[in-house]
Amino acid sequence: MDKRRILILGGTAEARDLAGVLADRTDLAVTLSLAGRTLDPAPQPVPVRTGGFGGVEGLSAHLRDEAIDLLIDATHPFARQISANARAASAATGIPLLRLERLGWDMVEGDRWTRVANMTEAVGALGKVPRRVFLAIGRQEAKAFDAAPQHHYLVRSVDPVDPPLAAPDVDYLLARGPFTVAAEVELLRGHRIDVVVSKNSGGDATYGKIVAARSLGLPVVLVDRAEAQGGHHAGTVQDAVRLADHLVGSSRKRGV
Ligand SMILES: NC(=O)c1ccc[n+]([C@@H]2O[C@H](COP(=O)([O-])OP(=O)(O)OC[C@H]3O[C@@H](n4cnc5c(N)ncnc54)[C@H](OP(=O)(O)O)[C@@H]3O)[C@@H](O)[C@H]2O)c1
Repeated sequence: MDKRRILILGGTAEARDLAGVLADRTDLAVTLSLAGRTLDPAPQPVPVRTGGFGGVEGLSAHLRDEAIDLLIDATHPFARQISANARAASAATGIPLLRLERLGWDMVEGDRWTRVANMTEAVGALGKVPRRVFLAIGRQEAKAFDAAPQHHYLVRSVDPVDPPLAAPDVDYLLARGPFTVAAEVELLRGHRIDVVVSKNSGGDATYGKIVAARSLGLPVVLVDRAEAQGGHHAGTVQDAVRLADHLVGSSRKRGV
């Protein structure tokens, strides 16, 4: 029997978990794609290809050349370009697309959130008075905070922020999640943090800082995600497996 070929766009724990579930299936050939941003990526349970495709055209060509039956976009909720490219490449090739996106966090009692739409608004939400800010947003958008150099920043990322911020008072911390609540409380206390800036990434691995801020009564500036786009959506790995089965079944019937 011909194996159905699946390409997962990854870089998230969900993508790795999904690949782990699908890896044992003898009817499927699964490849995981990573952007190649992380210097020392976590091991993956299926074959990996690394690096950008070259925009929509490059991704479309890759899907055709590799005779992919189903594209699964399991990238981070804030990786907007690759998700847009996946939608466009699916439309151009007719190859079905499934979006696996973990649910965002919801505010609970005790949370002191200011919700903003993007990093520029997050910078503004810190205000004019100097504060001690924990930037837990990864390294790619940290430079936006050069616009508010009056604050002290503690920047945590997996890989170094390069180039570093121009703001004068910045500490850097290299660490990879998951982070426990206890460790996050200790970090916030140890650095005398006044306010946390976070993306609404969802999931458990980085929720500790949100719980820690709540327990210390600290405010959080939370950057919201873009609106979900149309198409096939799954919020969990289990849902994604079920929908993937349906979609590779229907693409076979259509002879895609
Ligand atoms: N943004 C975040 O907060 C965040 C957090 C945790 C993990 N990540 C992961 O880190 C990776 C990069 O995120 P980003 O925000 O820089 O992405 P992005 O801005 O949406 O994508 C920029 C470009 O990187 C390439 N790319 C991104 N993801 C790829 C993948 N899985 N496989 C192959 N090429 C990929 C594509 O290049 P071409 O146009 O050349 O194809 C894409 O146009 C993603 O895989 C994402 O899941 C992102």
